[in-house]
Amino acid sequence: MTNQQSKINNPQSAIGFIVGGGLRESLLARLTVTADQIQEGGFVVIESGDWQFYGLVTDLRLGASDPRFADEQSEERLPAELAHLLHGQTLFTDLEVMPALMLERGPELDSQEYARWRQQIDLGLKDEPRPLPVKTVPPHHAKVRLAGPGDIAEIFGKAEVQGNFVIGETREQGHPVCINLDKFVQRSSGVFGATGTGKSFLARIVLAGLIQYNRASVLVFDMHNEYGLDDTASDTGERVIGLRTKFPTRMRVVGLGPGAQIRGQTPDFNLEIAARDIRPEDIELLTRELNLKETTPTTLEALVASFGAEHWFAKFKAMKSGAVIEDENGKKVPAPDSVAAWANARGVNVMAAEGLYSKLGRVFRLPYVVENPASDGIGEIIKALEAGQHVALSFGRFERDLDYLLVSNLLTRRIRQTWEHKTNQHRSQPEQAEEPRPLVIVLEEAHKLLNREMAAQTTFSTIARELRKYYVTLLIIDQRPSQIYDEVMSQLGTRISGWLGDDDDIRAVLSGLAGREALRGMLAHLQPKEEVLLLGWGVPMPLPVRSRRYDERFWEELPGKKGRKRSQDEILEELGF
Ligand SMILES: Nc1ncnc2c1ncn2[C@@H]1O[C@H](COP(=O)(O)OP(=O)(O)OP(=O)(O)O)[C@@H](O)[C@H]1O
Ligand SMILES: [Mg+2]
Repeated sequence: MTNQQSKINNPQSAIGFIVGGGLRESLLARLTVTADQIQEGGFVVIESGDWQFYGLVTDLRLGASDPRFADEQSEERLPAELAHLLHGQTLFTDLEVMPALMLERGPELDSQEYARWRQQIDLGLKDEPRPLPVKTVPPHHAKVRLAGPGDIAEIFGKAEVQGNFVIGETREQGHPVCINLDKFVQRSSGVFGATGTGKSFLARIVLAGLIQYNRASVLVFDMHNEYGLDDTASDTGERVIGLRTKFPTRMRVVGLGPGAQIRGQTPDFNLEIAARDIRPEDIELLTRELNLKETTPTTLEALVASFGAEHWFAKFKAMKSGAVIEDENGKKVPAPDSVAAWANARGVNVMAAEGLYSKLGRVFRLPYVVENPASDGIGEIIKALEAGQHVALSFGRFERDLDYLLVSNLLTRRIRQTWEHKTNQHRSQPEQAEEPRPLVIVLEEAHKLLNREMAAQTTFSTIARELRKYYVTLLIIDQRPSQIYDEVMSQLGTRISGWLGDDDDIRAVLSGLAGREALRGMLAHLQPKEEVLLLGWGVPMPLPVRSRRYDERFWEELPGKKGRKRSQDEILEELGF
C-alpha cells in the first residue's frame, strides 16, 4: 500500500508517544488519551521517519512524576480545575508495547525524496517494502496510534485477495483480520481452547473457507458428528448448518459401519474395514485402550509369520480359546483350532497368546470390521479426496476411543502411502504425473492420537513432522494442548487459541514462539468464548481477535455462496475515498 492510501485508510489520531524501552523488554509509550480507550492486546502503529513499526499492547501501567502526587488525593484538597491541571502534569499511564514488525514507508509523500524512492522501486532497483521482523527501535517521542483497517490489511492481507480469509475482527474497533489459506495448509495447524470456547465453530468457519477456496481437499475425522450434517448447538439449542448442506456436491459424508445413520440421516456411503487391512501396528496403538501386555508385539509377530500380514487377523479371530480335546490316551490337550495349539506349534507363550486373544475380543466384535466388505470404503474415500472432494467421516454410534484410534490411524496410513507414492511419481516424472492435491486431515481431540506415549506409533505424528513435503498436513483441534507431544506442537505453523486456564496448556500453545511471557497473559485474559489469539508461523504477528460468527451472515458473505453484496462504504474505501 502506498503512503497516500495508508493515510486515507488510517484516520487514526495519536494515542501516545514513545518514552523508552527496547527490543528485548518492550517499548514504553506515554498515553495521551484516557486508559479506557486502550486494551491489552491492542494493535498499535508507531510512526518514525521512513519506518512504521507494528506492535501489540502487552500491559498498561499507572505512573506518577513523583510518588507523592499518586499517593495524595489532591482532588479532595484542591478545586476541581486545579486538581485536573495538576494531574495532567504529574499522573500518567504508560503502555508496554511488544514490537513485532517494521515496514519501510519511504520519505514524506510530497517531498522530492519520495518521488526518487518510489521510482527506484518501480524500476526494480529496490524491493517493494514488506513487513520485516523488528530489528531496531523507533526514537523517543515517535507517535503511537491504534492500527486502522489499512494497517491491518497491510499486515494480515486484504480480504478481497484470493486466498485471504477473514477469521475475525480486532477487538477494539472491529476491523477485519485475515489468515492466508495457502499458508495455512502448507504446515500443520491447531485450534485450541478450553471446552466451550468455540473451537468446533471456528473449525467449521475455517473448513468452509478451505472448501470454498478449493486449493486443498479436507478429510475430517468427525468423532462427534459435528461437521458434515446439520447439528444442534448444545448451549443455545439452535440449528448449526453442516458443511454438506452448503457444499452438497463437494462434500461427502461417510458413516462408519454398515447401514450407519447419522442423526437420523443417511450418509453418502458407509465405511467397512476389511480384516486384511488391520496390521499389527494398528493393534499396538491400542495398547493403553485394551490394556495390552508387553508380550503383545512378540505374539503379533508370530501371528504374521504364521499367516501373513493380510490374513493374521482373520485366522486369529477364527481360533478358539481354551478349546480342548482328548488324545488317544484320554488326556486333555489343546484342540487343533485352539489358540494354545497354535502357540505351542510356534513356540509362543500360551498364556500371552490367550491373553491377547481375549483382549482383542473387543476388536473381533466390531461390526464394521468384516472379512469381505461390500465395497472398498477406504479406496472410495481416497478417490474422492484425490478427485478434489472433501470428506467428513462420521463415527455415528461408534464414539468410543477404540473406534476413533483404530479407524483414523488405519485410514491415515493408507492415505499416507497414496500421497507419498503420488509425490514420488510427480517428482520423478513431472510431465506425466500430476502434482498431488494438498490434503488437510482434521482431528478432533487430537491428544488421543498424538500424546507423548502414542505419538511414536501413529501415522499422525509422522504427518505432523514430515508429511508437509508430501502435501498432507493436519488441523488439530484440542482442549488439552499440553497432552500433545511437544515435537508435534512445535511443528504447528498456524495456532489459533481460545481461552486456556491451565498453565501447562498455555505453555504448550506458546512453545517455540518469541515473546511468550507477554503472550501468556494475553491468552489467559481472553474472553471465555469467541475470542482467540492468532499465533505462529502462519500469521505475520500474534494478534487477539474476536472470532467471526458462524451464522447466516457468514454464509451470505462467503464469496460465491450467495452473490456477496459489497456495501457502498467498502467500494468507496477501495477506491481510496
Ligand atoms: N464463531 C461462533 N459463532 C457462533 N457461535 C459460537 C461461535 N463460537 C462459539 N459459539 C457458541 O459457543 C458454543 C460453544 O462452542 P463450540 O461447540 O465450538 O465449543 P468447543 O470449543 O468446540 O467445545 P468442546 O471442547 O467442548 O467441543 C457454541 O454452541 C455456540 O453457541
Ligand atoms: Mg468442540
